[in-house]
Amino acid sequence: MPEAPTSLSLTNIAALVTNDPAQGDGSPLGIVENAALVIEDGKVAWVGPGHRAPAADETYDAGGRAAIPGFVDSHSHLLYAGDRTQEFNARMSGRPYTAGGIRTTVQATREATDEALAANLEAHLREMRAQGTTTVETKSGYGLSPEHEARALRVAAESGVDEVTYLGAHIVPPEYAADPDGYTALVAGEMLKACAPYVRWVDVFCEEGAFDEDRSRAILLAGKAEGLIPRVHANQLTHGPGVQLAVEVGAASADHCTHLSDADVDALANSTTVATLLPGCEFSTRAVYPDARRLLEAGVTVALSTDCNPGSSYTSSMPFCIAIAVREMNMTPDQALWSATAGGAQALRRTDVGRLTPGSRADLALLDAPSHVHLSYRPGVPLVAAVWREGVRV
Ligand code: NIG
Ligand code: FE
Repeated sequence: MPEAPTSLSLTNIAALVTNDPAQGDGSPLGIVENAALVIEDGKVAWVGPGHRAPAADETYDAGGRAAIPGFVDSHSHLLYAGDRTQEFNARMSGRPYTAGGIRTTVQATREATDEALAANLEAHLREMRAQGTTTVETKSGYGLSPEHEARALRVAAESGVDEVTYLGAHIVPPEYAADPDGYTALVAGEMLKACAPYVRWVDVFCEEGAFDEDRSRAILLAGKAEGLIPRVHANQLTHGPGVQLAVEVGAASADHCTHLSDADVDALANSTTVATLLPGCEFSTRAVYPDARRLLEAGVTVALSTDCNPGSSYTSSMPFCIAIAVREMNMTPDQALWSATAGGAQALRRTDVGRLTPGSRADLALLDAPSHVHLSYRPGVPLVAAVWREGVRV
């Protein structure tokens, strides 16, 4: 790992997105034009107009590019082995996506060594960082036994992942097919005890074919009793009770939110639960996109994330998700960038990332573009030119 210099000044930034409305243009993105940013000890020490920048030990000329906070990818499933190319191929020929595909990955993951799991995780983290992501959440859910869930989460806890989530309740594994209540008791009991030391969050796939409302509630409340904070895979494939349950248990986020009633939107708007939208999933399953504008107009806090997993959304690219959210989900380029940075931070209850203000973690991406709008204006173009995480060039 290269050492960070004591202080580094990034100068000549055409447009710096701070996500602090007190800065620059006063918009939610707090954009400072012709800006500089000073990093000290891995944190942002100063932001403002370039001509007022304080001296620093070293200088980096941003060359008139735009700079944004590093993306906060608050939902991914990177603790897996194997491949589902065939399933994707079949789906693109007309087969529907179902939760059952998860079983293929469970088998491959159980057969993988710890080293193989760790190497796969690291490869995806490198891929994410190269595309501007500096904070990553990932979850278990392909082990589905106390032993396999705990070892996957240990691998994650020992890696560079920022946030780790226990998803023993992804599907009911084949050996419990006839006894979903028995599996629920295992997830809420012995498996939870084995996994809790490695995680901050508990998640449930609340969906037809996965976990119903009562089983989901039992698992989330058991996780809470163990000191974990809930998040929920909610209303992905059908309209169901997931969003209401997420709000009821005080979840940090309800993720997917593809099929929402007006009552669901109201419940989210009157809660602290963030709606995390995962456009890669609708893209890769040929599903209908959620309407982000409906949520935003109701006052719901929206996050954007990749949901990177081998089944429903095998992309690690936040810029790709931003471009789809703008084109297909009625977000403005500003809203999409905010949701992919500050929104993700809120979904993870983090105040140190997702913004570039004095004291926050020095996590940023330089874009080969004069403005962040190019992230959706130039879809599919690799615009991320350089990335710093905790003040260190990635
Ligand atoms: O978020 N919905 C449940 N879990 C994942 C899909 C996992 C898979 O297909 O392997 C999701 O889409
Ligand atoms: Fe997911």
